[in-house]
Amino acid sequence: MSKVAIVGAGAVGMTYANTLVAGDLVDEIAIIDLNKEKTQANAWDLLHAVPYLSTSPKKITSADYDTCRDADIVVITANARAATFDEKPDRLKLLEANVKMIQTITMSVMASGFNGIFLVASNPVDVISQVIAECSGLPKKQIIGTGTLLETARLKDMIAENLDVSPKNIHGYVLGEHGNSSFSAWSTMMIGALSLKTWLERHPENALADFDYYDRRVREIGFDIFNGKGNTSYGIASVLARLTMAITRDEKAILPVSTYLSGEYGVFGVYIGAPAVIDAKGVREVLILDLLDEELEHYKKSAAILKSNVESIKK
Ligand code: LAC
Repeated sequence: MSKVAIVGAGAVGMTYANTLVAGDLVDEIAIIDLNKEKTQANAWDLLHAVPYLSTSPKKITSADYDTCRDADIVVITANARAATFDEKPDRLKLLEANVKMIQTITMSVMASGFNGIFLVASNPVDVISQVIAECSGLPKKQIIGTGTLLETARLKDMIAENLDVSPKNIHGYVLGEHGNSSFSAWSTMMIGALSLKTWLERHPENALADFDYYDRRVREIGFDIFNGKGNTSYGIASVLARLTMAITRDEKAILPVSTYLSGEYGVFGVYIGAPAVIDAKGVREVLILDLLDEELEHYKKSAAILKSNVESIKK
């Protein structure tokens, strides 16, 4: 039996809940939000999808923090309503508005006796994951941020369309901050088991594609979605669902998430997007790729940006 508690019943939290029901991924969903009436309505509404989309009964409730006590996963999607992304958009600008709220949430979750895995989507997700890790006192492997799993999906989508192959067969990662200093690690990209480089040598028509443009679009497109509809929800909810599957099924799946690095890639003491093996207990280990020097430079720069933001909270 698997139980997920979701903190924040906004677009991300509820789309994720719906994805869990549609995919029949967990047995129990407890939703925690300040707006109890709306959350209760959402819980009932979602229950009415169960007879048609699930093979087994589900418990879906509007709940208080004490429900977290026996949850396998607590998913943090809460965001303060401060985001406008017009001039110089940057998720790091959300930090100040979100940090106190996140600390309060973390303490409330921990007061229940929770000892499962925190999945974090609130932005800026790398810094917020670190705040939750420090505030909860749980082992760092039990706090997982959605990280660059979303950027990686965005890149896979673009490459798949260009090369006309399934996005499932595009392998490789966008790494670093979930945000403006992320970078596409081109040296890791494989099409099936063929390196992207070799693919392009054999497909001159694809080689004309502007890969720098893709790298840039991966960073921009989240803001374009945000400006178009006021939030982003389906992509990030699917990322949360993918991570939920990896944990509840003890998959040992390798996914680029926000995790704590202590020396890997020359990065110390900060949560940042890196490929990691995810099992039922959280992050089992970080996968060390043979990155190019220029990619390692990107990593260091991204880590420095995140570190200075973590330090800014402590001041
Ligand atoms: C995005 C949000 C989740 O990039 O940061 O869609």
